[in-house]
Amino acid sequence: MEPEREPLHDEPHIPLPTLWPLGFAVGIAVVLVGLIVDPKVVSSIGGGIAIVFGFLWARDATAEMRSDAAEVEPETGAPAVVAVEEAPAEPAKVTRSRFLEAATLGLGGVIGGIVTVPVAGFAILPGFLGQKGHKVDLGPVTDFPEGKWFITTFIVDPKEGDVSRRTAFVRNNGLLANAPSFTIISNRCAHLGCPVQANGPTGAILGEKNVVEHTKNGPVLMQPVVPAGFGCPCHGGQYDTEGNRTAGPPVRGLDRYAFEIDDGRLILLSTYSVTHVDGTGAQAKIHKYKLAGPGEHIDGVEQILYPLQPPHH
Ligand code: FES
Repeated sequence: MEPEREPLHDEPHIPLPTLWPLGFAVGIAVVLVGLIVDPKVVSSIGGGIAIVFGFLWARDATAEMRSDAAEVEPETGAPAVVAVEEAPAEPAKVTRSRFLEAATLGLGGVIGGIVTVPVAGFAILPGFLGQKGHKVDLGPVTDFPEGKWFITTFIVDPKEGDVSRRTAFVRNNGLLANAPSFTIISNRCAHLGCPVQANGPTGAILGEKNVVEHTKNGPVLMQPVVPAGFGCPCHGGQYDTEGNRTAGPPVRGLDRYAFEIDDGRLILLSTYSVTHVDGTGAQAKIHKYKLAGPGEHIDGVEQILYPLQPPHH
């Protein structure tokens, strides 16, 4: 059945099928993926793809309108003279309803962009930008006697203050090939992120004093502890002293901190995730992966459920 014609329309307005919207959608998808994997390079490429295909799409969508307008005399609005004697002159095809249709779509797009782009930008971008890794000065290596564990709390970013305070379990393993070896385990539970506790007596019970070291990151508190392992108060997740999961719902071992020794001081670097650790102390073989969120599998078949990791440190 032939589509019903609007009054004043000379022919039904049916857009031609085109692949440009598909390319535009691919560009937007690349921008979104780029926000996660590489905001600068991948998002820029996606933005370029979206702009090119968006332009081609808009050009196609308005081609008919532009060709109609081109057939109208610019000053008089009269139809262009067609050099065919038998054929009557074509009337102007930019009708009021078509003009209103285009104006409504254009205005709707502009208003929608003005309303949504700033909101989406403020909501999404901060999570992806300014995620630089921080170095944390924990003080002189001599504050950590060999073989002893310390519950160590520190401020990651002095500008953010106590909001960025974190806790790690630190043990000096002594030397490994003439380089200092430390085990530095994050207290973020690998199940849902609750703060894991050390299972064992601490400072006063041991007859040892807490140490507070003032570094450029602010005060660092070191509390001696003799852990039999680490336990999570939320759902009962349990870990051994290398951070290996031994019971409960966590899906992997505890995350660890990379470190360096700078001028005799212990400096924490970024965190990384660990499936499990073979061996102990300086001899430990750590199966390490890029930092993942709590509850996320980083090996085995389940890892395909977590293909992308937002940048975080
Ligand atoms: S958050 Fe630690 S066991 Fe659930």
